Amino acid sequence: MLRSLSTKLFFAILAALLFVIALVGILYKYVEQRDRMRMHAAAETGGDPSRGEAMFIEYGCGSCHAVEGVRTATGMVGPPLDGIALRVIIAGKLANKPENMEKWIRDPQQVSPGTAMPDLNVGDRDARDITAFLYSRAK
Ligand code: HEC
Repeated sequence: MLRSLSTKLFFAILAALLFVIALVGILYKYVEQRDRMRMHAAAETGGDPSRGEAMFIEYGCGSCHAVEGVRTATGMVGPPLDGIALRVIIAGKLANKPENMEKWIRDPQQVSPGTAMPDLNVGDRDARDITAFLYSRAK
């Protein structure tokens, strides 16, 4: 009786341990993948994705655009911005490359007069960092 109880306990602990190991592995993979995406986006744009995320929040972009994992970005006025790095065209007219993304973020009214996206007076560096942040989002 006592023996079967300790056997059960042993297997329960073993199962819990394996579960924790699997969880740590998944978390590690996630962080590794995220870091790789961020490094890639930084190299492509010359911006800082982490600072870009902070700027994205500060300018209130999330009031109109949803981005997964950014708590304040739940807006549904404009298109969701996850996976934007994989799009061919942005804002319905520009080839998707860093210069164009920055141009759009800084001056949407000049690119598309009358678009529902307002000019938010985003500075050069901020636009570059936000671009890096957006390009670091695979999905
Ligand atoms: C008042 C709402 C609003 C705010 C605030 C806003 N946007 Fe937009 N955004 C839009 C709308 C609407 C569109 C679609 C415009 C179009 O295609 O003409 C758009 C389009 C975009 C696109 C192109 C999306 C695509 O699928 O091609 C990007 C990128 C973008 N916005 C980034 C930003 C960033 C970064 C900020 C903050 C600096 C921001 N937006 C703030 C409404 C907004």
